[in-house]
Amino acid sequence: MLTIRQLAVQALSNLPVQGQTTLPVDAEARAILRNWLLAARRGTTAAPAPAPVAADSMLQTVEQKLAWLQQKAESWRAARALGTLRDTMVFATGNPHARLMLVGEAPGYEEEQQLEPFVGPAGQKLTQILSAMGLKRSDVYISNICKFRPSMGPQQLKANRAPSDDEIAACLPIIQAEIRAIQPACIVCLGGTAARGLLGHAASVASQRGKWFDYSGIPTRVTYHPSYLLRNDTLTARRSVWEDMLAVMQQLSMPISQKQLNFFK
Ligand code: URA
Repeated sequence: MLTIRQLAVQALSNLPVQGQTTLPVDAEARAILRNWLLAARRGTTAAPAPAPVAADSMLQTVEQKLAWLQQKAESWRAARALGTLRDTMVFATGNPHARLMLVGEAPGYEEEQQLEPFVGPAGQKLTQILSAMGLKRSDVYISNICKFRPSMGPQQLKANRAPSDDEIAACLPIIQAEIRAIQPACIVCLGGTAARGLLGHAASVASQRGKWFDYSGIPTRVTYHPSYLLRNDTLTARRSVWEDMLAVMQQLSMPISQKQLNFFK
């Protein structure tokens, strides 16, 4: 019996013969194909691609869809089967009706303690950036590409690490379903890990920031992670993030004061 992977490979292999050398695919398909490619490079069989999350069509409100998703995420087998992520699931925070959605990397020590994304030092930096934009945390929706803190073994204590490609791929259907539920007008990827997961971009943040990308029809910006600003508290880094946020404000038709325009002039 053929697996779905073998079927897809057969179909894709026929395309060049038929003269087709490119194929537009959505973010979910890209994540599944990338998972297969990475496994092929490692010479292993790809972990079964996690099933896309399809919220029950009976669920009407965004709140209902998110509650359902949160419950699904709690027992998300693709992530738990890896054995490399910690047990506690940290979902999302903020306004389900937000026009702006911010996507980070994965919960860290503080987030795991408080069961809320971005509540540690990086979170305080993010709250400051939002405040400079005239926004409160409760005005936006804040989530992570990976819903579990990546494990570093029994000696981990407060140390954190970035999620691996496998960990990102395992959790990806959850954030994709959150985006479908929230339908934000604009997404900001905070750092390269979020951009890698959502957009499939492996390039540096420096080369991605300053422009718009498209995630399933939603204007998406990539900027430095707040923890990068904590490590590199330079005028250049702060100005870069602020320029990205001004572009986001413009995209959302938010009022921009002269003071905000001139922050770094
Ligand atoms: N860094 C992230 O990317 N997400 C969090 O929730 C906390 C720190």
